[in-house]
Amino acid sequence: MKTAFITGITGQDGSYLTEQLLAKGYEVHGVVRRASTFNTDRLEHLYQDPHQPNPPLKLHYGDLTDGSRLAGLIRSIQPDEVYNLGAQSHVRVSFDQPIDTANIVALGTSNLLEAVRDGQQSAGKQIRYYQACSSEMFGKVQEVPQTERTPFYPRSPYGCAKVFGHWLTINYRESYDMFACCGILFNHESPRRGETFVTRKITRAAGRIKLGLQEKLYLGNLDAQRDWGFAGDYVDAMWRMLQQDEPDNYVVATGKMIPVRRFCELVFEFHGLDPEQYIEIDPRYFRPTEVDELLGDPTLAKQKLGWEPTTTVEQLAVMMAEHDLELAKQERTLVDAGHDVSSLNRHDQ
Ligand code: NAP
Ligand code: GDD
Repeated sequence: MKTAFITGITGQDGSYLTEQLLAKGYEVHGVVRRASTFNTDRLEHLYQDPHQPNPPLKLHYGDLTDGSRLAGLIRSIQPDEVYNLGAQSHVRVSFDQPIDTANIVALGTSNLLEAVRDGQQSAGKQIRYYQACSSEMFGKVQEVPQTERTPFYPRSPYGCAKVFGHWLTINYRESYDMFACCGILFNHESPRRGETFVTRKITRAAGRIKLGLQEKLYLGNLDAQRDWGFAGDYVDAMWRMLQQDEPDNYVVATGKMIPVRRFCELVFEFHGLDPEQYIEIDPRYFRPTEVDELLGDPTLAKQKLGWEPTTTVEQLAVMMAEHDLELAKQERTLVDAGHDVSSLNRHDQ
């Protein structure tokens, strides 16, 4: 049985990766931040009674900014594979919190790489490492489509921090002969996507509008174009990277991009609604610098990993819209029964 160690296990990708690794027979250890409310919703369906002997999923309190804790965990767990998915992953928020973002995304990567280097020495075995890099590193794109060789031009504090993590991972590979891979993943979504990212914000709002729970959807730049895929496919690519003979960098993308406006149309058409009637522009959602278009070329991942996306953006939009219509129906039932659901009207980005 292999052992995996995951940061960011409570996030969208962390939950899909955990699901897939447990299905493959892994023992999975995840780092969870202490919060004043429960933050393990996306894992509840996987979390067995921790009082049973040796459950395959084990959660540990920790934080990417706490290097000594990470080193202690890696030393005691001695994982075969480490997946660094933890991040302040919201681009707009990174303009508000550039230092926090850099501490988590850039220095956090440094903390974890050091912990893995130390862990390899003390365990006397190789630990394979996956770094969650991002298409946001391409920013103001220098060529279309983007490949593993396209120069970076990040346009946000988040993008800059991810470039640091990317190069540091390569540096550890070359300096210490570590099996360290960089996955340059383009946008990937799912029904588990955080509700402040644009696709989920759209599918949540459209379901609520359909059932009379919300009147308008306020968005920012509808002309930005993204290469959107399904998160379940993308975590499979992460795992495949760590099963190769040699470590490398891989672009993971669908090779097709559409504007935010088109994603809105796909979702509202699913509900039989005209998006023009419901969408308003709010400049609060504009970014100081925007990434106008991202389009990935996943040829290397196809050739070397045998990886292919299984889900088109049209299928993804329907998958998310169907899921969020069910959530809206549950909310409608509560409202009709006289319950206060104002806590569902959340602050967004
Ligand atoms: P996500 O849903 O926002 O999850 C982020 C995870 O990081 C959460 O588990 C979060 O914990 C954790 N985290 C935040 N700050 C942390 C800290 N200081 N220490 C430890 N963990 C911390 O992100 P995602 O969509 O799953 O993305 C996974 C990774 O891939 C991220 O590194 C992201 O930047 C990168 N990425 C994502 C995409 C995409 O389109 N989804 C594309 C390219 C790259 P809480 O639950 O406690 O907040
Ligand atoms: N979030 C958000 N909210 N974005 C909006 C809105 C809005 O109301 N209106 C328009 N947008 C536009 C953004 O300006 C951006 O151009 C696009 O929608 C996508 O925004 P997000 O869904 O927030 O994703 P992102 O592309 O900025 O970042 C995501 O993908 C990166 C990979 O390229 C995140 O998952 C990052 O962590 C990831 O690295």
